[in-house]
This record gives sequence, C-alpha cells and structure tokens, in this order.
Amino acid sequence: MILVVGGAGYIGSHAVKMLLDQHYEVVVLDNLSTGHQQAVDPRATLVKGDLGDKNDLEKVFGNYPIQAVMHFAANSLVGESMTDPLKYYQNNVAATLNLLSTMMMYGVKKFIFSSTAAVYGIPSVEIIGEGQLVQPINPYGNSKLMVEKILHDFSRAYQMEYVVLRYFNAAGAHLSGEIGEDHQPETHLIPLILQHLLGQREKISVFGTDYDTHDGTCIRDYIHVMDLADAHILALEALLKDQLKNETFNLGNGQGYSVKEVIETCEKVTQRKAVIEYTARREGDPARLVATSGKIEQKLGWKPKYRLEKIIQSAWGWHENHPRGYQD
Ligand code: UFG
Repeated sequence: MILVVGGAGYIGSHAVKMLLDQHYEVVVLDNLSTGHQQAVDPRATLVKGDLGDKNDLEKVFGNYPIQAVMHFAANSLVGESMTDPLKYYQNNVAATLNLLSTMMMYGVKKFIFSSTAAVYGIPSVEIIGEGQLVQPINPYGNSKLMVEKILHDFSRAYQMEYVVLRYFNAAGAHLSGEIGEDHQPETHLIPLILQHLLGQREKISVFGTDYDTHDGTCIRDYIHVMDLADAHILALEALLKDQLKNETFNLGNGQGYSVKEVIETCEKVTQRKAVIEYTARREGDPARLVATSGKIEQKLGWKPKYRLEKIIQSAWGWHENHPRGYQD
C-alpha cells in the first residue's frame, strides 16, 4: 500500500488517481487545511489527520501495510513564505521530521519528496540542471532545501531511500475533468487568468515589467500536473524494485514562458480578451526559472507530454465546469 500525504491537495490528488489507475492501493493522509475531500478518488482510503500529530501518524502506519510514502503536504506560496516564515518551517520542515521519524519507527524506508525549483534561488544559468548551485531566496525554498538535506543525512545514517522531485510551475488539470486546481485564496498565474476570463475577476495583474527578460516579465517553466504525477509513479516503481535510490530530479518542460506570453496563450485558448494591469514586482520572485529534465528522462524514461497550450486547455476545461472549484 502507498501512503500519499497531502493526497487531497492539487498535485497529490492527481498522483492518487494515477496510482489507483495503475492498480496500487492507496491511503491518503491529509488534514484538509488546503486540500479538498472531494478531490480524493473514492477508491482511496482517506484518513483525516495531521503531520504535526504523532498519534495521527502512528494510527496510519499501525493500521495499514505501508510500503512507500509520497509526501505532497506543504505550504507552497513564495510570497506568503516571505511574510510568515514560521508557518513554512513548522509545516514543511518540522512536520516532515515527524513523518520521517514515524516511518523509521515502522521500518518504512522508501520516500518520494515534493521539492521545488525555488531551491535554485536566482540561477546563474538560463537552463537549470540538478547540479546547479542551490541558494534559495525565500523561506519556502529554504524549507524544501532543508528537507532535501535531512533526506541526504537520513539515507546515510538510517538507510532511508528517497527520490526528490523538484517541480517547476505545476499547472493544468486531470483530463477526466474530475479534479483540478482549487486554492483558497488563489495566487497562481494560470488559474487567476482563467478566472478573470470567466468573469470572476475584474482583471489580471502582471507583477513587474522591468525584469531582465525579453519582454520584462518573469519567465517560468509550466509543467502539467499529470506529467508530474507520471514522474511520481516512475520514481515509485524504481524505488520499489530497488533500481534507484537517493536521487534528485528536476521536473519541467525545458521551455520558458513570460507572464505576458501565458496571458496571450490563455486568450488564444479561450478566445477571450484579458484586461491587464501592470503593477510592481512581487517580493521573492526570480526573473527566470526554466529546467532541463534530461536526468530523469535518462534514468527513468520520463518525458513531459503536455506543452503550455495543452496545459491551459485542460485547466480551462476544469475552470469552465467548476467555476467555484470543488463547490460545484
Ligand atoms: N504572477 C503575476 N500575476 C499574478 C500571479 C502571478 O504576474 O496575479 C507572476 C508571478 O510574479 C510569477 C509568475 O506569474 O512571475 C508565476 O507565478 P505563480 O504564483 O503562478 O507561481 P510561482 O512561480 O510564484 O511559484 C510556483 C509555485 C511554487 C514553486 C514555483 C517553482 O507556487 O511552489 O512555482 O517555479 F516553487
């Protein structure tokens, strides 16, 4: 059985669905603070519980034969982490230590960890490989890097076997149309643009027009949430078959799009025109984050299937059919 911590969240719920489709048995642990019960595929067992509470953890590990853990539960907003770092160190680092120590208590050693492009800070290269210097510029990136270091030390001392997946910008929705992105409040670029184009928001703000990029707006590498889920399954299979351990992989498309280009692509997909407001930079945002994912392609045969337009089409399908997210 696979334990998916944070399986009611955006990326976790897509991984849960894919695991079940591939005939894994899944137990989800989620405190539903940002996740949604409706996002959890009914074929999975949902346990409502908190990583901060050791009793909740022991209940799960005591009751289910867990072979491996995927850990998606985290706070993940760069801007919020700048103003409330305690929340990030508490929920992303301290809570993960609880999880890891409970795993060790129950002899569970295989762990897949959701990390982030934010560990690279302001990269000195155009295309970021895993060997690039890690120097986060915000507490969110710091919190993820700290766990990466903990995993490295735990693998040496306690034979923990891990795969770290550094996501670039997750976007899109499941092609079934059943699950998608629903954050309260929403802060991510693509859902904000689509909600605006649906008439739910007055306009879309572009944060900063004076970055050192071709059009002055920030460049990001958008990766479909189903491609992310796919990578988790490949990593899990390799871990379970003892073909690989203690590796770190980037997950991106290898192509960057500026904020302006993302808005244009949303306009093209939806055939609607956006009202754009140009505002000041948002604190903590690097100008450009674009990955090379050659390492995971080479080691696990992972290749992203969806590019920006397809990503936005799937997200649009979700938002049109669920204008109030899981409330519809
Ligand atoms: N942006 C705007 N206007 C908005 C919202 C966002 O211009 O209303 C810009 C941001 O400044 C940024 C880009 O759009 O340049 C993307 O912003 P998001 O908030 O969608 O995503 P981030 O790049 O800030 O962060 C996301 C995840 C992080 C992860 C990071 C990795 O939220 O968890 O991708 O690249 F670390």
